[in-house]
Amino acid sequence: MNYLEFYKNSIENPESFWLSQAKQLDWYKLPKNCLSKDTNDYYQWFEDGELNLSYLSIDKHINDGYGNDNAIIYDSPVTNTKRAITYNELKEEVSRLAGGLKNLGIEKGDTVIIYMPMIPQALFAMLACARIGAIHSVVFGGFAPHELAIRIDDCKPKAIITATCGIEIKRIIPYKPFVDEAIKQASHKPNQVVIFDRGIDVERTQKTYDIDYQELISNSKPANPVPVKATHPSYILYTSGTTGKPKGIIRDTGGYATALKFSMKYIYGVDEGDVFWAASDVGWVVGHSYIVYGPLLNRNTTILFEGKPIKTPDASTFWRVISEHQVKVMFTAPTAIRAIKKEDHDGDFINKYDLSCLKYQFLAGERCDVATLTWTKNHLKVPVIDHWWQTESGWPMLANMVGVELQDVKPGSAGMPVCGYDIVILDEHGEEVSAGVEGYVAVKLPLPPGTLMNLWGNPERFKAGYLKRFPGYYFSGDGGYKDEDGYVFITGRVDDIINVAGHRLSTAEMEEVVASHKDVAECAVFGIHCEIKGQKPLGLIVLKSQDADNEATITSEVIQDVRHEIGAVASFKEVLVVKRLPKTRSGKILRKLLRQMADDLSFNVPSTIDDADIITEIQTVYKSNQIGIHKD
Ligand code: COA
Ligand code: AMP
Repeated sequence: MNYLEFYKNSIENPESFWLSQAKQLDWYKLPKNCLSKDTNDYYQWFEDGELNLSYLSIDKHINDGYGNDNAIIYDSPVTNTKRAITYNELKEEVSRLAGGLKNLGIEKGDTVIIYMPMIPQALFAMLACARIGAIHSVVFGGFAPHELAIRIDDCKPKAIITATCGIEIKRIIPYKPFVDEAIKQASHKPNQVVIFDRGIDVERTQKTYDIDYQELISNSKPANPVPVKATHPSYILYTSGTTGKPKGIIRDTGGYATALKFSMKYIYGVDEGDVFWAASDVGWVVGHSYIVYGPLLNRNTTILFEGKPIKTPDASTFWRVISEHQVKVMFTAPTAIRAIKKEDHDGDFINKYDLSCLKYQFLAGERCDVATLTWTKNHLKVPVIDHWWQTESGWPMLANMVGVELQDVKPGSAGMPVCGYDIVILDEHGEEVSAGVEGYVAVKLPLPPGTLMNLWGNPERFKAGYLKRFPGYYFSGDGGYKDEDGYVFITGRVDDIINVAGHRLSTAEMEEVVASHKDVAECAVFGIHCEIKGQKPLGLIVLKSQDADNEATITSEVIQDVRHEIGAVASFKEVLVVKRLPKTRSGKILRKLLRQMADDLSFNVPSTIDDADIITEIQTVYKSNQIGIHKD
């Protein structure tokens, strides 16, 4: 198939293009209306269709005779466990849990928070919610109780599903006490907390809202899937915005199922029955779309990996999993490859495994540097595909659509627009720029199916954040450029969001925490280069009183505060005390300049700077603390 023709058709005839893709699913009621507007005057797909994600991900395949095929392979080097779960077994687990949730009074349209490690029960919980039309909101385990509390207050869950603990490289994460603490901090109080006991001895206090997961399912009857409207929210997924408050991205059901099914075939090039592995976490959008719903909708076997690319037990883990479970297509973040490369530079571990099953290696989540791409290609000897997307889009916007036609890979580019995404590069006035010129990456409306519907409880922020800046376009928040051949290069965020190990974090949120320390007069937090994690946050603080003896105590308290309020995932480990911060005459802190200096990039001192002498002061502080790209 010809990519350009296929793509052009999706842009010129979106309704017929996506209706024919929607027909690949088994709807209770096939939609007649493709594209319409909702009450917020925003686009929606397949308004009058009805379907169920849990049915399509499980029951449909059993009805088609594939009940004994593996739906999930759980591979957990941190617990030394491997478990294959067939579609029949998945149905038993999910429908019983769904029945249990119904017994707790959870109904269609209710919200449920899932705060769990990478264990099969996390997937059962998501699919059980989808089965009864409850809207799940998965919160990544690396977030602290305070972040969980913010999400509890925003989406007001009737119940929380959690586990006794998670297992990290160096420690056990006590999930249940985190949930208790979050409920204490939140104004909204969920009725129940369902706890899956992992059988590991961890701290736990019995609360009146506690329900044991095993007891719940052993006393429940299996629940059947309920039809929901295509526009029914399947989940809310919180992501960092440019303020301290995260944004609750709402995903629909019908458009999402259509887009994911389409993407498995045409972007990732997998056929039904193949083994697919996204090495991410269910707390991120990658986990939602490509550990759970995408592969299961497409009747693939999905790998659920509870471990890290290194140290669980070593840098060979990824290659063992691919070879042992016959993975055809794998997806990870460049950070994971950089971590592996650091430990196994010559790829000796790779050579120990038969990886002939692997056809494509996909990378996303952050900018992929050319060295990482090249190393991966040279060692795996398969096409390595960088592709670009966001929590908001739910599935790739730029890629090499290998299931349509494998294009040449241009290192540094995240590929060409995916079907349905009319991607343009705009200047600050909203005019399209010429090839090679950097600008704002935007997508012409309407977006294709599967993309965000709105922000939970905040339609004004949705419009202000994404639609207002360039009328008629969705603004991604990323900068980039297109080359003469139409390949797009993403250069990075144009706002306060940073990507640390492929994890999206808000520096504005970190700054709020740092600024609230009693001894901090003012501060700036921004992302600087990190050899492994791509970026890492750096904090500069000005103290209220210049008391050199207390500097070490204050900086360590500030670091602890961020870890306590946001979570370990913020990787906030460096804070420097400075006398002053560079500002414009109107008082705006020059964060970009601070970042450029830290990364040893060339920079121009803006003519609006209040006092240019500060530059030398900051440079001295950076030098004496070895800040810069040569330090890692
Ligand atoms: N629950 C609780 N804590 C978590 C967590 C989770 N699910 N995930 C991470 N953390 C903690 C880590 O234990 C670490 O804590 P520490 O400061 O006490 O060491 C902290 O958050 C930072 O975690 P991480 O960024 O993962 O760093 P790391 O040093 O533990 O591991 C890598 C480094 C490179 C191995 C790891 O970052 C990695 O695998 N990156 C790939 C990321 C990825 O796949 N992203 C997917 C997005 S698409
Ligand atoms: P998230 O919403 O967590 O998936 O993060 C989305 C952001 O990650 C995007 O807005 C980009 O800034 C960045 N990102 C994701 N994939 C890529 C990629 N392939 N290249 C460059 N940046 C990327």
